[in-house]
Amino acid sequence: MTGMLSPQAKDNLMGALDLTGRVALVTGATSGIGAATAVLLAQRGAHVLVHGRSRSLGESVVAAVRGHGGTADFVAADLREAPSVRQLARRAMDLGGGRVDLLVNNAGIYPLGPTEKTTENEVDAVYAVNVKAPFLLVAELAPAMAERGSGAIVNVSTMVAAFGMAGTALYGSSKAAVELLTKAWAAEYGPRGVRVNAVRPGPTRTEGTAGMSEALDALAAQAPVGRPADPKEIAEAIAYLASDAASFVQGAVLPVDGGRTAV
Ligand SMILES: NC(=O)c1ccc[n+]([C@@H]2O[C@H](COP(=O)([O-])OP(=O)(O)OC[C@H]3O[C@@H](n4cnc5c(N)ncnc54)[C@H](OP(=O)(O)O)[C@@H]3O)[C@@H](O)[C@H]2O)c1
Repeated sequence: MTGMLSPQAKDNLMGALDLTGRVALVTGATSGIGAATAVLLAQRGAHVLVHGRSRSLGESVVAAVRGHGGTADFVAADLREAPSVRQLARRAMDLGGGRVDLLVNNAGIYPLGPTEKTTENEVDAVYAVNVKAPFLLVAELAPAMAERGSGAIVNVSTMVAAFGMAGTALYGSSKAAVELLTKAWAAEYGPRGVRVNAVRPGPTRTEGTAGMSEALDALAAQAPVGRPADPKEIAEAIAYLASDAASFVQGAVLPVDGGRTAV
């Protein structure tokens, strides 16, 4: 279709998606959806702060970004520890020259299984990484965005935040909290120019789901598209919500699940 557009229309289209001059912090960017998002945001012009725990994986994502002509830095932090989350925010501001324009709360853990077999440590870890860390990062970074009058936050949820499925009580509930936080933050920071939205992915082939090979296919088969997503397909939706192309999209949860929650 873009072949039918005039060169100026094409420029306008890419212009709205362009992220040149923005500083983006992507959590959990050493792997899967986060790594694909880091590379795509950098291709669109953002300077990307690649977060994770593994320095070697982080440096390889930074190298991939640079290989595509982009710029990035790696920042390590364990999101289970509140002081480490706050330090991540400070470090990101420093590396961003005093600003973070885009925050992608992507890092997440997803242990699945029966409620009675779930340990207290798992409950604490899932809520620390999936809920408390995004909460603290927004508390640290959104006020400065609001003061500048612009910024975008994209939270990564999951389709199992939208319906009950056996084995997903802990994980799904943590992401349901993230979806409500998305709307509450849209109400809180939206009037001062910060857009807060979420993507709700379906089954996606990542390093994290590598061990679920057939179960992932079976889950994906329930959706109209019928196959797991490639991480790049989720990254495209995140990059859209982070960009000015989504300037009127606020407090939304965008299903990117092959149609699973629609049918
Ligand atoms: N894959 C799917 O099917 C799917 C579906 C729906 C939603 N999602 C959501 O999408 C997001 C990404 O999923 P994914 O499959 O791409 O994940 P993944 O391949 O398992 O990667 C997880 C990322 O989170 C980071 N991380 C995990 N625990 C951390 C901690 N304690 N401190 C700091 N970083 C930590 C990891 O970094 P290090 O290892 O370097 O620490 C890694 O970069 C998650 O929020 C997930 O819930 C995934």
